[in-house]
Amino acid sequence: MKILVVGSGGREHALVWKLAASPRVRRMWVAPGNAGIGLEDLASGAGRVECVPISAEDLDQLLEFARTHHPDLTVVGPDNPLALGIVDRFQREGFSIWGPNQSAARFESSKAFSQSFMEKYGIPTARAGVFTEAGPAREFVASLGGRCAVKADGLALGKGVLMCEDREQAYRAVDEILVRRSFGAAGSSVIIQEFLEGIEVSLHALCDGRTALLFPTSQDHKRALDHDQGLNTGGMGTYCPTPFLSEAELEQAGRAILNPWLAGCAREGIDFKGILYPGLMLTKQGPKVLEFNARFGDPETQVYLTRMENDLLELLEASVSGNLSRCRLQWKPMASVCIVIASAGYPGPYQKGKPIHGLAEVAGLPGVKVFHAGTSLNRADVVTNGGRVLGVTALGADLAGARNAAYAAVDRIRFEGAQCRRDIGWRALEQTREQV
Ligand code: AMP
Ligand code: GLY
Repeated sequence: MKILVVGSGGREHALVWKLAASPRVRRMWVAPGNAGIGLEDLASGAGRVECVPISAEDLDQLLEFARTHHPDLTVVGPDNPLALGIVDRFQREGFSIWGPNQSAARFESSKAFSQSFMEKYGIPTARAGVFTEAGPAREFVASLGGRCAVKADGLALGKGVLMCEDREQAYRAVDEILVRRSFGAAGSSVIIQEFLEGIEVSLHALCDGRTALLFPTSQDHKRALDHDQGLNTGGMGTYCPTPFLSEAELEQAGRAILNPWLAGCAREGIDFKGILYPGLMLTKQGPKVLEFNARFGDPETQVYLTRMENDLLELLEASVSGNLSRCRLQWKPMASVCIVIASAGYPGPYQKGKPIHGLAEVAGLPGVKVFHAGTSLNRADVVTNGGRVLGVTALGADLAGARNAAYAAVDRIRFEGAQCRRDIGWRALEQTREQV
């Protein structure tokens, strides 16, 4: 089979690595890929993964590439091309493509759509209101006592969520989104949610339009610095599984979210094929959905796919063809941890082009896989090319073992200004310690 993967981050490297392990893949292109992706060999022995210099958002060029090379399956990693309708355009020309179509991708591209959907179909979520005018939005803020989350409706590079401690902050947030239009068209409406307290976990479910297969829980660390200090980032590290929901609780939470969600999709004629990724707050009143994403999480993918036993290609094919009810997800009975190494300054401005040392040294470590996120090649040298640079991922018998292995590898990798969090997994380790 010939596969085209769209995207260039750590998530896409993990997808490519897992797909390349499928014996049926004879050729794989990645647009645009990164330095690490271009070093992956196909398990079929048919060669190496090929990076093609087309941006993930250049749908015209991607289609042109498909017309010339005829991939049997295209796999979309990031949210932007999904929101732009890549799936619809590929399908119109008869290409098989994995990911939600533009209408289904609204679960991520419009928080207002998601919020209304959750309320309509009884999916547990925060108390919330959706507004297009500042006056009523302010009144709602006041009714919540000021402490709330103020969110721009559309995709805003992960920056459209403003957590507010009091009324003044929340009024300013409403003005920034609705009046000053700091997020452009993404802020034509605003969602205001009550502030939920609890532990946050990521859920993923692979869907084919009728069936949703739930993954184990994972947890991301969104703040840049240890002890959850510093600015919000795309994610500085993950681990899987988490100890915060027992298997029975996970099944119950999955049912409470996915059953009404599937019923709502059927009622609204939404054919969701892809990953539904609810961000969940475990509150005293039970799990509540903060938001839906319509793609794999990054860096959640890195810990999920290192634990996954299944052939990912078969799962994605079943998702596209509507045959997931015949599949069962299987996971290695181990823990996986991913530590993100980022450029100095991230999530603010940062420099690129710093040579990365130590990659060859860690390549041989058992149970360790370094996924590249923001890297490129400068002749034969791998150099930094983004904010999040690498996702150092390790398996272990338990979380502590996986974490030690991951940090042992991190410590052998060097580039100027490299920064990472040193406390990935701390909540789970603390909880486990309390139970002992
Ligand atoms: P979102 O993009 O909607 O997931 O929001 C980004 C982050 O803001 C989440 O991962 C949470 O940490 C936080 N957040 C969002 N909504 C809420 C809420 N209603 N209560 C508390 N924290 C929230
Ligand atoms: N891990 C955060 C995200 O993918 O949105």
